[in-house]
Formats: sequence, C-alpha cells, structure tokens
Amino acid sequence: MDDRAVLPVLPVHPVPADLERRPDPYPWLNHLRTEGPVQRIRLRDGSDAWMVTRHSDVLAAAGDPRLSSDPRRLTAQPGRSTRIAGGNALPSMLTTDAPDHTRLRRLVSRAFTARRVETLRPRVRDLARELLDPIVPRGHADLVAEFAFPLPVAVICELLGVPFADRAYFSRQSSDLLRPPVDAAAIALADAARGRLRDYLADLVASKRTGRADDLLSDLVAAGEEQRLTDEELISMALLLLVAGHETTVNLIGTGVWLLLQRPAHLEALRTDPQLLPSAVEEFLRFDGPVMTGVARYTTTDVEIGGITIAADQIVILSTGAANRDPQRFERPDEVRFDRADNPHVAFGHGPHFCLGAALARVEAVEGIGAVLRRLPGLTAATAPDSLRWRPSVLRGLQELPVTFDPRS
Ligand code: HEM
Repeated sequence: MDDRAVLPVLPVHPVPADLERRPDPYPWLNHLRTEGPVQRIRLRDGSDAWMVTRHSDVLAAAGDPRLSSDPRRLTAQPGRSTRIAGGNALPSMLTTDAPDHTRLRRLVSRAFTARRVETLRPRVRDLARELLDPIVPRGHADLVAEFAFPLPVAVICELLGVPFADRAYFSRQSSDLLRPPVDAAAIALADAARGRLRDYLADLVASKRTGRADDLLSDLVAAGEEQRLTDEELISMALLLLVAGHETTVNLIGTGVWLLLQRPAHLEALRTDPQLLPSAVEEFLRFDGPVMTGVARYTTTDVEIGGITIAADQIVILSTGAANRDPQRFERPDEVRFDRADNPHVAFGHGPHFCLGAALARVEAVEGIGAVLRRLPGLTAATAPDSLRWRPSVLRGLQELPVTFDPRS
C-alpha cells in the first residue's frame, strides 16, 4: 500500500532531548494530547514515530495484537528500532510477541506474583531499616544514593542471585544503557554498556551451572537444561530483570518523596495515617511515574487509533505519561490526590506486557517511603526545585535528593 494514502499530514513534534530531565515535562505531553489523540513525533535517534496520548487509546493499543512489541518486525527503519525498546537489543519477553513472549514470561512469572512478593515484605522492611540506621543520627542525606537506589537493587540482587558487592560495576552499565540516544556518542556508550552487562551475566550464569543456589538465575539455568530456554534467552532475561529491578523503583521512591516534600500537607497526612501509603504510591505512579515518555510498539498492518490510520511498519509510542494526565479519564489530573476512588493509571503498562515487577515495586515503594516518613522527622528538601537534577535517562527519576531532618541518636 502507498503510505501517502493513509498517513495524514500532521506536523512532526521532535521529542525534546531533555524531556525526562525537565522539572516539569508534562506541559509538552499535555500539549501533544490537546493537539490530537495521535501525533507524529521524531524520536531522539532520528526515527519517525507516532505518539498515542489518550488514556482510552493507550489501553486499547496496549492490548491490540496488531501492535507488536518486537522491534525486529520493523523493516522501514532497521537498526534504529532496537534502541527504543528499553535499550535491550537482545530478544527478551519485553521485545517478543506470543508465543515466545508467553513462554519466556511463564518461566519467571511465579516468582513475581502478588502472593509470592508479599513473602518478601519483611525482608524489604529489614533492608529499609538497615539502610536508614546510619542515616538517622546524621541529620542529612542524599535519599537517592543512600536509600532509594540501594533498596531495590539489594532486593533484585537477592532475588536473582547477583552479588550486591558488584553493584557499582553493573549499576554504571545499567544507567549508561538507558541514556537517551541523542547522538552517536550516547548510542556507542549504551551499546558498550550492554556488551559489558551481557559478559558479566554470562560469567555469572556459568558459575550458577556449577554451584546450584536457591535463586531465580539458578532456576533459569535449570529451565535451560530442560531446553525451555536458550543461553541467549537466559542471559537476556537476566539482563532485563537486573536492569528493570535497578532503574525503576529507585525513581518511584525518589520522586514520591520529592512530591511529598513539596506538599507538606500531603506528607503530614501520610505520617498521620500510613494506611494511605498504598493509594499515595499509586498516585505517584500516575502523577510522575518512572516510565513517563511511553512504551514502544510496531504496527504489523494498518491500524486505526483515535480516528487516524497508522500504516504498517511504523513505530508507535504509547505515552503512559500523557495518558496518566488525560482529563477525560482523571479528574483534575495535574493535582496529587490520595483520595482518588479509582486510579486506573497505566504507569505499569497494560495488556500482555503489563509490568512483571509491579507487585514488587509496590511493596518496595510502600515500605521504603513508609520507613523514610517514620524515621526521619522534620524531613525537608535541601535543594530548591530549580536546582534539582533529574537523571540523563529515558526513564524519569531524580539524580539526587539532598534532604535534612532532625537527627536522632
Ligand atoms: C514491563 C513499568 C518495576 C520488570 C514494564 C512495562 C512498564 C513497566 C510500563 C510495560 C512495557 C511494555 O508494555 O512494553 C515499571 C515501573 C516500575 C517497574 C513504573 C517501578 C515503579 C519493575 C521491576 C521489575 C520489572 C521492579 C522486576 C524486577 C518488568 C518486566 C517487564 C516489565 C520483566 C516486561 C514484561 C513483559 O514484557 O511481559 N514495566 N516497571 N519492572 N517490567 Fe516493569
């Protein structure tokens, strides 16, 4: 089919190079949504794409099998697409469709069910306490480096069986992997980081083959021996889980605490009534979640979304951030409210690829933010909103969160 027959003439909106680092990126996303439900955009690596901005359309598209999660299905802009899918060029559950997606996800899904994750809650609570113990008497801290980051990293390391002691090494690779692909240097950095992480995990997996331990990577090695998983898939799965466990919840905890520091009445409400914490975490996810710009899909045929026909072989970004601020779905979307009776945000995606780690992220955020509020009285931001630094990443999160509080002996 001739593309010109189906592509309407719409202006192209380049995704700003610094979108996730802006103090408030939502005016740009809101502007796109008010221009229309589907917009033409130019991604930061120069690829042309479409952005879906309404909540109802994001929900429908995320469950539509005509929109693939596999960038290898894309032939029009080969090479580029692999970098959009979470920076992970190796095929993983995130970047495959059924039946491979179903097979890969099933191998690990049991470890992440709400019930299984609930058994980890006491350990998460202990880790939060251990991390706060040396901070409490001091009266000041960087809550990202000293708390929001090591908490989920320690949890995912224990779950997978990755040595926590190696975190400085693999954390650097993980954050380089997710730098926005704004130029050749950033792309080269991400590719090199992916190679190093792959090598690190290949060595680790080899060591699991000899000494079996009670962890998820050892279970996956056993699944490989039963031939349900190739070596390449195993390493790719490990990489996905390690990076996802690393780069997301840290941002939810950091942003959540920051939103509270800017809203003392909300902070006080949570201190007084910690039962509100689960709703507060859902609201932080909706209001400024870690996967803000969106998730990538690839059209396998002509698809109509929001009255616009997108041709086959196109990149489509389902903007979770724009959908989560859609006034047609959320009353007063630009306000943080803990009393939303119904908060169907799409911060964890929707459909078959709905975040596997959602239950874990929720437990970590509720326990982590709860511990900060309980143990750091008089908590105040030690930085002005304008001087706060956001991470140079395709994910949305704070680089640092300097705070002061009343020291306790
Ligand atoms: C998928 C967000 C934490 C593992 C996703 C997706 C989103 C998301 C939006 C959907 C991707 C798509 O549709 O293409 C988040 C957020 C988190 C978080 C906001 C924290 C606040 C975690 C954690 C883990 C994890 C802690 C696990 C260790 C995964 C995996 C997938 C996924 C494996 C792929 C699922 C699939 O393709 O079937 N996440 N995530 N996530 N997430 Fe998370």
